[in-house]
Amino acid sequence: MIPINKPWLDDDTKQEVLNVLAENSLTSPAKNGGKRVQDFESLLKSYLSVKHVIAVNSGTSAIHASLLSLGIGPGDEVILPSFTFVATANSVVATGAKPVFADINIDDYTIDVDDVEKKITDKTKAIIPVHLYGHTSNLNKLNAIAKANSINIVEDACQSLGSLYNEKQTGTIGNLGCFSFYASKVLTTGEGGAIVTDDDDIYEELLMIRNHGMVNGYDTRVFGLNLRLPELCAAIGISQMRKLNQMLEIRKTNAELLSEGLRGFEHKGILKLPKEPENGKFNWYLFTVGFKENSHRELIKNSLLKAGIGATVYYDPPVHKTPYYDNKNKSSDSSADLLPNTTWAWTHVLSLPVHPLMTTNDLNTIVKTFENTL
Ligand SMILES: Cc1ncc(COP(=O)(O)O)c(C=O)c1O
Repeated sequence: MIPINKPWLDDDTKQEVLNVLAENSLTSPAKNGGKRVQDFESLLKSYLSVKHVIAVNSGTSAIHASLLSLGIGPGDEVILPSFTFVATANSVVATGAKPVFADINIDDYTIDVDDVEKKITDKTKAIIPVHLYGHTSNLNKLNAIAKANSINIVEDACQSLGSLYNEKQTGTIGNLGCFSFYASKVLTTGEGGAIVTDDDDIYEELLMIRNHGMVNGYDTRVFGLNLRLPELCAAIGISQMRKLNQMLEIRKTNAELLSEGLRGFEHKGILKLPKEPENGKFNWYLFTVGFKENSHRELIKNSLLKAGIGATVYYDPPVHKTPYYDNKNKSSDSSADLLPNTTWAWTHVLSLPVHPLMTTNDLNTIVKTFENTL
């Protein structure tokens, strides 16, 4: 089976990991982290052109810690899309705040700014735009809304490392940005994540939150957790950073091949292909198509799976329809059910692999499967 994403690990990665083992330096409880963590943070800092990077042990930790650093907790509301991985909403719930779900745009599956505006109340403390599949959210408008209402933007850039919005890296445009380096992401550390910010005070707060609120020894000063990234993971990240541009280039080439092969279906009105926005660059984390008919999606998904291609529906169901959140909504006066574009996307999208380990043959198999099925 060709998986939807697969990490590209090579001899360089293995050597970096072996070096950590040889030095017996698996982790560090120091405020600034171990040597590899600091080196990995420096590489990310210059790649993203941002003042501060705090590496943590997952994208979930990155969002959770970001919200904690803003003082968000019980009684507060945070607006986010339901069409995302459940981690975005879980990070809000972990602070004690209430997730409020907004709808998405049909074009790029990112949060609908007009719906966000409708959902702002005097309890709203933050908005989390999710740059889904690598598509960039409308950050200009969101920043303006946030400023006008004195609320913060925490970018969920877990899927969008390398995507640009008006020539700036996603994750660096809101108050804070959160990345995931889970094994399926464009850059991986196995499990891992990072928070980026230009704010010095928030940076100092996050260093404490990452490490049980401690600075020197056991002098816990704020609430924190163990969110540290192990040195072995940071070592993988350092090796991955060396080939990040190459990996992104291959994704783009693969996406162009798929676009060419599937364009005929778009012309016939059967399919909507993903497009790079005019004001941005797309990292091609996933190649997500939208079908006019749900029945066509199901046919193609099953044919691709039979052909050994791990085509996947992200997200089935969206967060507000998962049992935990659905039950929560039923016990409150939530209007979370009124998310028409989210419901459309849930039932009509399909993500295809374009990762760097795909061969031309694999890509041709996808196109041929479409041709033989529809
Ligand atoms: C949109 C989104 N948000 C948050 C996360 C959470 O990241 P992690 O799995 O590293 O905790 C992920 C990744 O899985 C994600 O895709």
